[in-house]
Amino acid sequence: MDRSCGMGLPVLLLLLLALSCSAGALDNGLARTPPMGWLHWERFLCQVDCDEEPSRCISEQLFMQMADLMVSDGWRDVGYQYLCIDDCWMAPTRDKQGRLQPDPNRFPSGIRKLADYVHSKGLKLGIYADVGNKTCAGFPGSRGYYDLDADTFAGWGVDLLKFDGCNFGTLELLAEGYKNMSHALNKTGRDIVFSCEWPLYERPFRKPNYTEIKQYCNYWRNYADVYDAWGSVKNILDWTSYNQDSIVDAAGPGGWNDPDMLVIGNFGLSWDQQVTQLALWAIMAAPLLMSNDLRQISPQAKALLQNKEVIAINQDPLGKQGYRITKENHFELWERPLSGGAFAIAVLNRQEIGGPQAFVFSTAFLGSGLACNPACSIQQILPTSEDLGLHNWVSPLKVVVNPTGTVLLKMVVTEEKLFDNGNKRFPEFL
Ligand code: GLA
Repeated sequence: MDRSCGMGLPVLLLLLLALSCSAGALDNGLARTPPMGWLHWERFLCQVDCDEEPSRCISEQLFMQMADLMVSDGWRDVGYQYLCIDDCWMAPTRDKQGRLQPDPNRFPSGIRKLADYVHSKGLKLGIYADVGNKTCAGFPGSRGYYDLDADTFAGWGVDLLKFDGCNFGTLELLAEGYKNMSHALNKTGRDIVFSCEWPLYERPFRKPNYTEIKQYCNYWRNYADVYDAWGSVKNILDWTSYNQDSIVDAAGPGGWNDPDMLVIGNFGLSWDQQVTQLALWAIMAAPLLMSNDLRQISPQAKALLQNKEVIAINQDPLGKQGYRITKENHFELWERPLSGGAFAIAVLNRQEIGGPQAFVFSTAFLGSGLACNPACSIQQILPTSEDLGLHNWVSPLKVVVNPTGTVLLKMVVTEEKLFDNGNKRFPEFL
């Protein structure tokens, strides 16, 4: 990986390179596909005291248990690689040298030891800090310490930094802070994925500049925190489709919109709603960061989160984010262009009453008319895997979707003739 972006080249070449470097995503070579892993926040927060409830508090023991399970239960092997600490890991003050230090009750062996353990399992460690004076939970912020904190994290062997925006001060300080931390991480020479909340904190005051944000961040939160509730997942989807014209094009290899954690395997979502969350997070090319308890997850939720076909859609190398193409009554139709001219299609039933409902649509509608032209093979991926066979361009497709559920399809265009009329593009009955 070339973090230096052309160090050592003659000045003119360097200038040209600097111009081209500034045009695309953050040039640290990381997050070429949306990062996958586990993040403690939604499920574990920081409410529980370790003396009272050692098994449910944020501690090195909890992270080591999760690391063990990520390996033994097959999470790592399907791609969940980053094990991420969120807020409340810190001691309330910096040490004498001004360095951040972990809470000695929660992490008595220190973060370096935990990172070594996590690395020994073939996983990567994520940590949390804040651009402002204090984190959202009131622990020391990084303002004024960007270089020192980046060096501390690199020295510990951290692989990902979630950088929150609470207590950011002014919009100028917010932007400066994210840029400075991005540079500081790059200067360490260690590969550290940079996760930002810059647009989330900026949006109430002015429109975020995504061209700039993607030059500094590997992924970024736009909208409110996810909760373990269908209402929260719905709000995130509504916000995303409403704002898709300004955010979808910003995503691509190296930089992603982050609709927040997957809450699958917890308490608040029905089975169909869990299917919807995973299907739509795949369509949105979202980082797949689970926040659940891997010690107590149902086999059904585990199988869903480990579904290789869904993960392949999420991780598609073309790196294009999907979008909603229509909303008809209570149905939403989303599509995502995939590599090789394929498309992922999601049909979401937003009706919250009654039983399964049929949605009939024309494939001629999809991919600006190209997704199934002249024909395509269709694979249903969720809620169950089914081969729907070959389909021609104009024939209607019918899917039956449970209330609040989603049917996720993959469509691969084919030149195969469906009708023996010598005309591939326009089948018999046209
Ligand atoms: C903010 C973030 C959350 C979480 C908390 C921690 O609300 O958006 O994802 O990190 O802070 O305090």
